[in-house]
Amino acid sequence: MTAAAKLIDGKRVSLLWAGPERAGCIAAVHAKLFNPPWDEANVRGLLDHPAATSFVATLGSPNDVVGFIIGQIAADESEILTIGVATECQRHGVGKMLVEGLIRAVQRAEVRRMFLDVATDNAAALHLYSKMGFTPSGVRKGYYARPGAAAVDAVTMARTLTI
Ligand SMILES: CC(C)(COP(=O)(O)OP(=O)(O)OC[C@H]1O[C@@H](n2cnc3c(N)ncnc32)[C@H](O)[C@@H]1OP(=O)(O)O)[C@@H](O)C(=O)NCCC(=O)NCCS
Repeated sequence: MTAAAKLIDGKRVSLLWAGPERAGCIAAVHAKLFNPPWDEANVRGLLDHPAATSFVATLGSPNDVVGFIIGQIAADESEILTIGVATECQRHGVGKMLVEGLIRAVQRAEVRRMFLDVATDNAAALHLYSKMGFTPSGVRKGYYARPGAAAVDAVTMARTLTI
């Protein structure tokens, strides 16, 4: 799937379905954004899951992977397992594009509600999800382990999807 013509530094951003063959690229971007990172085998396992619905954002041609979103469907619900945009491409609408792409895809599978967990100290993600219509639905105490620091709570957010 190719989505809208968004440009960063004159290069086109595209949204492509991501299967297990994208695990290496996604793990490489993930490692620069998250601590601890997920290794390639873990990412491949998620992408390979029959319920996975995942995309990468690519920039230019040949395609550099600059963002990813991994979602999973269970009956009429869906969850965002992870999302990330390479630091140098943030604040250009790529995160929004990834979430919109996942929502469009799961709506076609008749998903009615989407969930995610986000760390309470992750202002960028909290803003992104709020802007996209997700609202808080609960808190998981100490959900995110932080190497060398205290664990951080997660806010569970949800959004109802219309079909
Ligand atoms: C969260 C993340 C995916 C956002 O990606 P992005 O491409 O920068 O997001 P967008 O450019 O689409 O931003 C959409 C909206 O989100 C909000 N937002 C994004 N980054 C923000 C920031 N640093 N501070 C405040 N608001 C922010 C804004 O409302 C923004 O809209 P605006 O630019 O019109 O104001 C990105 O910051 C990231 O990869 N962070 C590290 C990984 C991570 O934390 N993932 C989420 C785990 S739950």
